[in-house]
Amino acid sequence: MISVIGGWFLAHKSLKPVDELTKTAKEITAQNLSRRLPTLRVNDELGRLTEQFNDMISRLQASFVQIQQFSADASHELRTPLTIMRGEIEVALRNQRMTKQARELFMSMNDELVRLSSIVESLMILVKSDTGRLVFDMQPVALNEFIHQLFEEAQVLAEAKKIKVKLEHSEELHIKGDAARLKQLFLNLVDNAVKYTQPHGVVTLSLAKDDGNAVIMIKDNGIGIPRKDQGKIFERFYRVERSSGNVENTSGSGLGLPIAKWIAEAHNGSIEVKSKEGKGSTFTIQLPIL
Ligand SMILES: Nc1ncnc2c1ncn2[C@@H]1O[C@H](COP(=O)(O)OP(=O)(O)O)[C@@H](O)[C@H]1O
Ligand SMILES: [Mg+2]
Repeated sequence: MISVIGGWFLAHKSLKPVDELTKTAKEITAQNLSRRLPTLRVNDELGRLTEQFNDMISRLQASFVQIQQFSADASHELRTPLTIMRGEIEVALRNQRMTKQARELFMSMNDELVRLSSIVESLMILVKSDTGRLVFDMQPVALNEFIHQLFEEAQVLAEAKKIKVKLEHSEELHIKGDAARLKQLFLNLVDNAVKYTQPHGVVTLSLAKDDGNAVIMIKDNGIGIPRKDQGKIFERFYRVERSSGNVENTSGSGLGLPIAKWIAEAHNGSIEVKSKEGKGSTFTIQLPIL
């Protein structure tokens, strides 16, 4: 009896540190690579293993920081030449003697540059979000007013495609948030709704209250998102492949939704999609009420 109990006790005691290690190891992710496994001050197999693990995490952390810095530098360096090129094209287009052909070429180059600039801007935002370098200016936001502004802007975006924008909302709601970032979140969604909906379609914005959350929905009756893609559209650079001949616009970079998701989560909120191919999509954002 004594040896059984004694054996169990010893095994339990000697394996306890392993449990601790397992727990901490589970918690280490790309977001907290500065964490280390608890070091055991004994020079046994387990102690040495932990030390080696910690060294490995240090090396990973160093590479990670390097990659992030590289992305930050790269997107920053791309900005200036892009701005210069856009300026030069603008100047060139002022030349009245330019042939029609040359003018069209310059215009199309300008479109591509605008697109490239927006990709670079999105990349900068995501890199900054990864490194925690973007601070949110959290202030009380009156959602009623906010959604009205969004409604006006959505109408401007929808005009070219003769898409009808509707607004449904309930009572006055307040949240704590960064209005500029929230605007970015919702404009990304409205931009998508308009982009992926046929001309003369309908986009509906709505604001309602559910428990302690403000619920904002952006609904369209456009081309929808295939079920298999719905889980992936919030990943960076993910774009749904569509069969040709559809209404989809080729412009875009697959960074709109990842940014939207990041902003929603930074507000302790969530973003969800429900969609049916050929019927339309609804994006639902929940944000905690103040
Ligand atoms: N309202 C929508 N209707 C249909 N498809 C959508 C909608 N919103 C997003 N998607 C799909 O999700 C993909 C990712 O969206 P996003 O991150 O905004 O990238 P982008 O718009 O630049 O392609 C899009 O390529 C599109 O296929
Ligand atoms: Mg988009």
